[in-house]
Amino acid sequence: MKIIGTGSAIPRREVTNDMLAEFLDTSDEWISTRTGIKSRRVLSTDEDLTQLAIQAAKEALKDAKIDASELDYILCHNVSNDFETPALACVIQGAVSAHCPSLDLNGACSGFIFTLDCANGLMKAGRAKKILIVCAEHMTKMTDWTRRESCVLFGDGAGAIIITDEGPDCEISISTTYSDALTCNARVVTTPFSQQEEKYAKLVMKGREVFKLAVQSSAHDIQEVMDKAHLTAEDVRFFLLHQANLRIVDAIKSHLDQPEEKFPHNIERRGNTSSASVPLLLDEINKQGMIKEGDILVFSAFGAGFSSGACLIRW
Ligand code: COA
Repeated sequence: MKIIGTGSAIPRREVTNDMLAEFLDTSDEWISTRTGIKSRRVLSTDEDLTQLAIQAAKEALKDAKIDASELDYILCHNVSNDFETPALACVIQGAVSAHCPSLDLNGACSGFIFTLDCANGLMKAGRAKKILIVCAEHMTKMTDWTRRESCVLFGDGAGAIIITDEGPDCEISISTTYSDALTCNARVVTTPFSQQEEKYAKLVMKGREVFKLAVQSSAHDIQEVMDKAHLTAEDVRFFLLHQANLRIVDAIKSHLDQPEEKFPHNIERRGNTSSASVPLLLDEINKQGMIKEGDILVFSAFGAGFSSGACLIRW
């Protein structure tokens, strides 16, 4: 599997920690020292996630220098988007004028890795040669804006990649175990047959538990993909970790005993954009020309489930 193009899109509106402190009992000092986040991008009235997803997809196609008609599959990952149905992937397909099967997946914040695993399976089964993956997330729609311990963490955005089957094997490790550390119930509505108190979807998180699970699972997954590839941390050029908390990135960095420059991050400007966070970061460093042909990259992500996964690829 080879990544031949990347793209991303973020909302126009930047929301700083000080702006949150205007309506929440919080401060820039608390948020930045506990999480590393200084600001995040948030979708507002005149924008929607579909526009971001399409923009990221078009950028990735342009970067890969291929026409959408060459795509064999579009996989879109999202936890929350503009549609119950159709899949956002179908809307992207129409917008880029592709003619291939298109569907959405939901693997929580680990979704980029889970989607890579599905895409890799499709390619290995001979079902697809070129696949567009778009991770698009409107997290600020499902956060509870009265809960300061969770709403300060999230942001919105979309990241996209194009992969082909013309490349060396990648290594992927994924796992899911049930935990209630991070959940968001679906919206509850009343029907003629089911009278219930109507409720909006709200995210509930046990922060400390998530923190511990994140560090444990990310360290384990990264080691597993390096072992499978018979490589060590020294061989890896960049570790692109889910941007959930800079202290989690630091803990993995200390565990692997690798230098700071191998762990690029943008959480300070983006917050946690769920499954979009790793492809957003990948696009940033790709566009800055930081990745060279043959570089080994490790992606690692974790989230609700509890789910986690890592992927090792050669650029
Ligand atoms: N501003 C100010 N104070 C806050 C606050 C905020 N935004 N959020 C919580 N606090 C307060 C708490 O009420 C608590 O006060 P108390 O001591 O008077 O009870 C205090 O800060 C410490 O809270 P705690 O939850 O123990 O802090 P923490 O050091 O564990 O940091 C998180 C909280 C959420 C930043 C941290 O646990 C974390 O990042 N966890 C992982 C979350 C994550 O990655 N989620 C997404 C996974 S995909």
